[in-house]
Amino acid sequence: MPETGPEAQESFVLRGDIAYSKDPETLVTYEDAYVVCVDGVSRGVFKTLPDDYRDLPVEDYSGRLILPGFSDLHVHAPQYQYRGNGMDLTLLDWLDQYAFPEEAKYSDLSYAERAYDLFVEDLYVGATTRACIFATIDPDATLGLMDMLEETGLITCVGKVNMDRNAPETYVETTEESLADTQAFLEAVAESGYLRTFPILTPRFTPSCTRELMDGLGRLAKEYGLPVQSHLSENKPEIAWVKELEPDAAFYGATYDRSGLFGENGKCIMAHCVHSVDEEVALINERGVFIAHCPECNLNISSGVAPVRRYLEEGLRVGLGSDVAGGSTTSLFAAMRYAIIASKVRAMFINENDRPLTFPEVFYLATKGGGAFFGRVGSFEEGYEFDAVVIDDEALPTMREEQTLTERVERLLYLADDRHVTGKYVAGRKLY
Ligand code: GUN
Ligand code: FE
Repeated sequence: MPETGPEAQESFVLRGDIAYSKDPETLVTYEDAYVVCVDGVSRGVFKTLPDDYRDLPVEDYSGRLILPGFSDLHVHAPQYQYRGNGMDLTLLDWLDQYAFPEEAKYSDLSYAERAYDLFVEDLYVGATTRACIFATIDPDATLGLMDMLEETGLITCVGKVNMDRNAPETYVETTEESLADTQAFLEAVAESGYLRTFPILTPRFTPSCTRELMDGLGRLAKEYGLPVQSHLSENKPEIAWVKELEPDAAFYGATYDRSGLFGENGKCIMAHCVHSVDEEVALINERGVFIAHCPECNLNISSGVAPVRRYLEEGLRVGLGSDVAGGSTTSLFAAMRYAIIASKVRAMFINENDRPLTFPEVFYLATKGGGAFFGRVGSFEEGYEFDAVVIDDEALPTMREEQTLTERVERLLYLADDRHVTGKYVAGRKLY
């Protein structure tokens, strides 16, 4: 396929064994079929290639799996260096002992460049095509991260983190600094000419942000129509601390909502929602807030298990987050696997009426559920932006030749990693 530059959207056909989610219960599969991309948008999947598309170039991936790209709704780029460490701690100690000291290092731009390079390479080679990413409080390092992400061809939202209280001296801003740096960061992004890398307001979480800072960010959200990402109701001591810090708020989510940071002015993602009270869930629903379910992190730092079954039944918008480094890996294959395992823990020990999540349901969360944050993304149905990954599952040998396509996709959740991702397309552009 000719390289026509990032602006050009491509038209082509991929041939292979194709699967995508229609809805949470339904994985649609087509063996040896064609998926058509015209000007970066899917025209659908066909057993026989329609005449209208006969002149398009065909990439033949026969025998390989072609899946929609995955959307990671919650990941911390500067935590990549210590993934796998500190898992004996719970949230607030883990932040103090690991997250804050590591993130403070990114004011050294040479460290930031080397460290972010490792993270970006990891994201590039995996099955993720879109992501919402926390950086650090340092605007220059954050812009450096965005430069690197733009180069990859992935589509991402990246936030300069805001924190003006309850943080170590080496990693905290004044309210004025935090707002001024955010404004400067937004202006720099506007001038950058990025085509695929977008800013997202990122108040870290309520314990790190004064009301004044939240209100200031709310004004920016309104002025620029910006999306917002943060953390919500992750662990019990955190929730108790928010009650103490913000006694006037009826519940944790209200501390964002009263500043216009809860989906009122632009799209909003809240990570976790493990222990959300009913009023909070109702407001999440009313405001169309996306929940980033981060099951591996929730198990690793002993936060609990989010009631995702309930969220799906109530029609909330839910996607998956790898949440590195609370999660150990950027792989959404792993996040899907942990989502299933966590839901079984919930059914066994927390609420036996909560039926565990199924494989089609978690596949939906990783693709169409999270993709919805970016628009019509995460499916091969007609009209969806064309994000695809090609998976070589011959590298996962088995004597079971009678496997269905559904079974082949299912076992990827348990067996696949970056090494099996052999092709990647984002919004119709081939990355490799
Ligand atoms: N809450 C506030 N900051 C963080 C973070 O970095 N990770 C997680 N998991 N929760 C948080
Ligand atoms: Fe997080």
